[in-house]
Amino acid sequence: MGPFIRFRDVSFWYSREKEEKSQSSGSHVLSEINLDIHKGEFLALAGPNGCGKSTLVRLINGLLLPSMGSVSVDGLDTDKRDNLPAIRRKVGMVFQNPDTQLFASVVEEDVSFGVENLCLPRNEIRQRVDWALEQVGMEEYRNYPPHRLSGGQKQKVAIAGVLAMRPDCIVLDEPTSMLDPGSKQEVLTAVRDLNSRHNITIIYVTHDMSETIFSSRIIAMARGKTIYQGNPEQFFADKESLRATGLAVPPIKQLINSLREQGIRLPANINSLEELVDFICL
Ligand SMILES: Nc1ncnc2c1ncn2[C@@H]1O[C@H](COP(=O)(O)OP(=O)(O)OP(=O)(O)O)[C@@H](O)[C@H]1O
Ligand SMILES: [Mg+2]
Repeated sequence: MGPFIRFRDVSFWYSREKEEKSQSSGSHVLSEINLDIHKGEFLALAGPNGCGKSTLVRLINGLLLPSMGSVSVDGLDTDKRDNLPAIRRKVGMVFQNPDTQLFASVVEEDVSFGVENLCLPRNEIRQRVDWALEQVGMEEYRNYPPHRLSGGQKQKVAIAGVLAMRPDCIVLDEPTSMLDPGSKQEVLTAVRDLNSRHNITIIYVTHDMSETIFSSRIIAMARGKTIYQGNPEQFFADKESLRATGLAVPPIKQLINSLREQGIRLPANINSLEELVDFICL
């Protein structure tokens, strides 16, 4: 089976004016991106401010179109207008600010908004909304007004709205960067569950490297290019890529690295302080 999402020689700049400028100065927003994303992956996309992460993910569902090269989703090219409805059913997007994504007066109305447009029978809509709220643990809040929810709960409702469309893939662009640590954890756990229980492909944009520990692959970007693709463990040990992106190794992995430097042998799959304590004490 071919890749679910495919970028081929994709370059992007925001306007024709910029095109002339960028072709002389070489400062495309994205330059020659080649990327294959397979069904079921949990892909973390990381890199410094302004390196092009949001631009790259907006190319996936045709919110932006490549200036050069091509992007396809499940074999459908994003630059054919007729393909866009199908592409947008396959790939849902969740953004950074939970307050700009919810607009109905009650949670369940918000979650059903997208599905209502699919012209499905009423009971199918109801089932999908129930299912989606349950998957993110928000079924008890179905009759709440969104403004009474915490930031993390609002993000989970936004995710449920996308989920009700039964997408193959969800793209989340820094979904936790405005949340407190407890809410961050709630959202990340909900997203990990969707990937592991339902095999939904996840593309997770973040600055916070501790959120990338559980990903199946990290794509690290700098200045409009992908400069690293591989597993998180190798990335955290790759000093050159870390320097080029300015990204920091998560504290737990720093601790493990320094314990290893002191000769303590530790397995690769320790991802939290609790797991480290258990390994050392048991
Ligand atoms: N609508 C736009 N018009 C013109 N330039 C833009 C537009 N949006 C982004 N840019 C520029 O494109 C570059 C890449 O921006 P992008 O938002 O994709 O980066 P990012 O990696 O998501 O950054 P951040 O970490 O701050 O979210 C930046 O130089 C930005 O200023
Ligand atoms: Mg961004």
